[in-house]
Amino acid sequence: MTPKAIGWAAVAALLALPVSAQETADSVAPEAATAGAFAGASDAAQAAMRAKAENRPVEAEDWMVVAANPLAVEAGAEVLRAGGSAADAMIAVQTVLGLVEPQSSGLGGGAFLVWYDAASGELTTLDGREAAPLAVTPRLFQDESGEPLGFFDAVVGGRSVGTPGTPALLEEAHRRWGRSPWPSLFDAAIGLARDGFTVSPRLAGLVEGDAERLGRFPATAAYFLPGGDPVQAGDTLQNPAYAQTLQMLADKGAAGFYAGPVATGIVQTVQGAPGNPGVLSAVDLALYQVRERPATCAGFRSYDVCGMGPPSSGALTVGQILGLLDHYDLSALGAGDAGAWRLIGDASRLAFADRGRYMADSDFVPVPASGLIAPAYLKERAGLLAGDDALPEVTPGNPAFDHALNRADDESIELPSTSHISIVDGQGNVLSMTTTIENGFGSRLMTGGFLLNNELTDFSFRSHRDGVPIANRVEPGKRPRSSMAPSIVMQDGRPVLAIGSPGGSRIIGYVAATIIAWADWGLDIQQAISLPHAVNRFGTYDLEIGTGAEALQQDLEALGYEVNLRDLTSGLHGIDLRDGLKGGADPRREGIALGE
Ligand code: GLY
Repeated sequence: MTPKAIGWAAVAALLALPVSAQETADSVAPEAATAGAFAGASDAAQAAMRAKAENRPVEAEDWMVVAANPLAVEAGAEVLRAGGSAADAMIAVQTVLGLVEPQSSGLGGGAFLVWYDAASGELTTLDGREAAPLAVTPRLFQDESGEPLGFFDAVVGGRSVGTPGTPALLEEAHRRWGRSPWPSLFDAAIGLARDGFTVSPRLAGLVEGDAERLGRFPATAAYFLPGGDPVQAGDTLQNPAYAQTLQMLADKGAAGFYAGPVATGIVQTVQGAPGNPGVLSAVDLALYQVRERPATCAGFRSYDVCGMGPPSSGALTVGQILGLLDHYDLSALGAGDAGAWRLIGDASRLAFADRGRYMADSDFVPVPASGLIAPAYLKERAGLLAGDDALPEVTPGNPAFDHALNRADDESIELPSTSHISIVDGQGNVLSMTTTIENGFGSRLMTGGFLLNNELTDFSFRSHRDGVPIANRVEPGKRPRSSMAPSIVMQDGRPVLAIGSPGGSRIIGYVAATIIAWADWGLDIQQAISLPHAVNRFGTYDLEIGTGAEALQQDLEALGYEVNLRDLTSGLHGIDLRDGLKGGADPRREGIALGE
C-alpha cells in the first residue's frame, strides 16, 4: 500500500478497534525507495523503517531519537548509546542532517530548541533564530516604487540571508546540558563528509526540481550539479569543505564559525552574490547571540502544550487552536467527521488572524503573548465556533494587553522546508528542536560546504498598510517571525509527548492535528503522524491529495469552504513518553525513530 493509501474509513475503523487488532489494519509505506537508499543501514534502522512501513511506533525503554534521515538518526543513537545527553545527540544529528538533508537545515540556518530537564523538572526554550543584519532597511524586499518583490526574486541570492543561529545554539545547548566531549560530537558528520554519503531519493528529487536556481551560483552548482547534471539517488557525495568547517567548530567552538575564515566566506558570499547581493557583515556575525525565552504553554484537556514563544508564532498559534478546541468534544465526533474538521479549521483561522496581526519578535514589537492564550479570551473566541457552518469571515480578536495595539495585518509568505528532531536520553531529558534554512536550499548560496538561509523572507515584505505598521516588518537586528512549533506536551508536570514538524506556516496545523489525534482520538504516535492532513489557515481548506482526506471534500464544501487538494509534506517526528518510549516518523519523508 502506498503512503497515500490510508483512508478516513480506515482511521475510523482503527479508532473502533481494540489496540491488539490495530496492527493488522491499514499500513503506510515509507517514501518510495527509501528503504533501498538506506540498504547499508544497521539492523535497528532497518527494523525502524519496517515499523514505519507497517504504521507501528518504534518502542524503547531508555532513550530514543527521531529525525529526518537514518544516517543522522544513527549518529544520534551512537551518542545516546555511549551515555551522551539529548543535547549531545542533537549536535551529532544536526551536523549530519546538514550534510545528508542540506536543503532543510544546517549550520547556515537557525533553530528553536525546547528542553525538559529531568533533574530540575524545568522547561527551557532557546532561540537560535537568524537575525536581520544591522544594515537592512524596511525596504529590503520592495522595489523602487515600494511594491513587494516577487518571492523568489527576494529569496535567491544574498538579500534574504540572516545571521545564522544554529552553530551558536549547538554550543549553548552543549554548555548547558552536554555530557560528551564537544569535539567527539562532530565525528560522524566529518567522517561522512570526507568519505562520502549516499544521496537519498528525496535529496536527488529536490535537486533536480531546483536545478535552475542551484545552477546560478558556482559553488552551489559544483556541489549539487557536478559536471552540469543533478546528483542522482544512490550517488556517493563527498563534501570536504563541510568537513573542514565542522573541524573548525570542533576545534574552536562557535567562535570558529562566527569569526575567521568561515565568517569571511559567509560575508563575501552574501555581499558578492551576483545579481542580488545582501548586507550581512562580519559585525552581524560577531554580535550574534542565542536567547533564552520563557516557554509558552497552553492548556488542552489534561495537558499543557509547551513550546517556543516569539519570535516564533508556533506555540502561541498551536496553543490558541487547542485552547479554542478545548471547549468542544472532538472525541465524540471522530477523525472522519467533517464537523470535527469544521471546528479545527475555523479554530485555526481564528488563531491565524491573531497571528497575522500580533505575532512577531517581541524584542522589537510588543506582543500580547499571555493575552492571546488567556483562558477567558479563548473561551470568548471559542463561542464563535458554536454554529454549524464555516465562519463566513474571520477577524483578529482583542487580547488583553497593557499597550496600544494599532497594527495592520501581515502578509508574510512562507514556503515549506525545515526539519524536526525529537530526542529522549537515558536520564529522561527531552529535546524537541525544529531547525531550518527556510525555503528548500535556502538562499541557494553555499560557502564552507553548507547552504546559507533565506530566513529574512519570513518577514512581511510590506512594512505598513495604509500607514499602520505591520508587527512582522523588517528591522535591523530583528528576528523574522517563525511558524516553527517544537513542542513538549506536559501532564501533571511530566513530559508525555515531544513533537514538531517542518512545513512553513502549515507546521502549526500539522502539530495541532497530531496532538488532537493522539490526545482525543486515541491514535498512537505513528498513526497520529500518518493521519492524512486537512489544514486551514486563511479560509481555503487544504486536503492531502491522494489520501483518505479527499473524502472530506464534499462535506467541507457543503459547510461553505473552498477546498484545495494538494501535497502536504509534513515531517512530523514524535516520541510518546507515557508508557516507556514510543517513536513515530513521518511516512511522507525519509526519517526513522530509533531507541533502546
Ligand atoms: N522558515 C520556516 C519557519 O521559521 O517557520
